[in-house]
Amino acid sequence: MDDTNEEGFMRITRVAIAGFGNVGRAVAAMLLSRRERYRSVYGADVRLVAACGSRAGASDEAGLEADRFDSLEPGKSGPDFIASSGADILIEAGPSNFRTGGPGLAYIRSALSAGRDAIVISKGALVYDGRALRDLAKTSGATLKISGATAAALPTIDLIEHSLLGCQVLQVEGILNATTNYLLDAMTMRGVGLDAALREAQASGLAEPDSRSDIEGWDTACKLLILANFGLGLDLSIENMSINGIETVTQVEIETWRAEGLVPKLVGSLTLQADGPSASVAVRTYPRTDPFALVSGKTKAIRITTDLMGEVFSIASGAGPAATAAAALKDFEHILLARSQCRSSPVAKTLPDYKPNALFIWRTGWRCRRRP
Ligand SMILES: NC(=O)c1ccc[n+]([C@@H]2O[C@H](COP(=O)([O-])OP(=O)(O)OC[C@H]3O[C@@H](n4cnc5c(N)ncnc54)[C@H](OP(=O)(O)O)[C@@H]3O)[C@@H](O)[C@H]2O)c1
Repeated sequence: MDDTNEEGFMRITRVAIAGFGNVGRAVAAMLLSRRERYRSVYGADVRLVAACGSRAGASDEAGLEADRFDSLEPGKSGPDFIASSGADILIEAGPSNFRTGGPGLAYIRSALSAGRDAIVISKGALVYDGRALRDLAKTSGATLKISGATAAALPTIDLIEHSLLGCQVLQVEGILNATTNYLLDAMTMRGVGLDAALREAQASGLAEPDSRSDIEGWDTACKLLILANFGLGLDLSIENMSINGIETVTQVEIETWRAEGLVPKLVGSLTLQADGPSASVAVRTYPRTDPFALVSGKTKAIRITTDLMGEVFSIASGAGPAATAAAALKDFEHILLARSQCRSSPVAKTLPDYKPNALFIWRTGWRCRRRP
């Protein structure tokens, strides 16, 4: 497929979205609305060439416009459909299932094995088969980005991979689930019971109709595990973790903590010790002066303790489909940036078949590669 657009000087970037629900559609709308930015900042003519749900989808080599989103064609779905669209970047936004990998697993495997970059939003495949997916990306030279699966708008994986590069991470503590933080906050600050608080959160659209994965701590565990394995190179499995949610928290406990000046939070904790890592999810209490005690409502936060940079803390209030889509498209811009840097590298310009918008394989380790 031709790499340059009709004007002959702008590189075409073809994107496909697998999983076209709340988040997938938010990604699609945001991607289309940012096309001019991608052209002017990265010299990329970005086209959404395919999108699909479980049974239907749409594709167009020239790029889909929003008017096609509500008339998906039956049968246009699945990893082969996405592969045949010619997309060179997959954005995966399907349902998450850490016990099976979910439908996302096949899409991600298909993209990475063909050397296509993947931006993954659902957690299931990364928990279920993370090591194999990392290896697949390494072998094919594809980029695998996972901000959407690691607390989205909250900088977590970026913090580890960029801001703390070279430091030794000693401990990670995260309030990684907006729903449980909202529920505990309502129970503590307003004396509302868990069931009533949950109904409130569901009515406002924050909590899903089936919120067991959040309440029982599985969602927090999955995010922590992905951070540990992808960010810190560990090999944790969900079976290695002790996981307790907020379902057993009683109003009596809440009153006791309040009287003692303590604030409860559902926290995923990872400690890296000489005898190996230990990871858990549980309700922990913090004195009111601790930054975690101030993380209220649907806000999330992470505290990373390092050897030389001390404690680093990040906090973010963005939650929901738009914030998640923005996090995935932040990953997308990092891919565009890396590609544009490769194209304009002095090394690339010395090669005999240099074209301003082509990528090159450079044997000396320059991290550009030929696109599929
Ligand atoms: N919602 C949020 O705020 C949020 C925040 C962070 C992360 N996430 C994660 O983002 C992902 C998507 O969330 P969502 O809220 O958008 O869920 P959703 O509205 O339920 O959408 C899921 C989409 O996946 C599609 N799907 C299911 N099986 C598929 C298959 N085999 N092939 C292709 N598509 C398939 C569904 O298709 P049908 O429509 O045909 O069923 C639907 O379009 C989840 O993994 C979630 O954990 C969500």
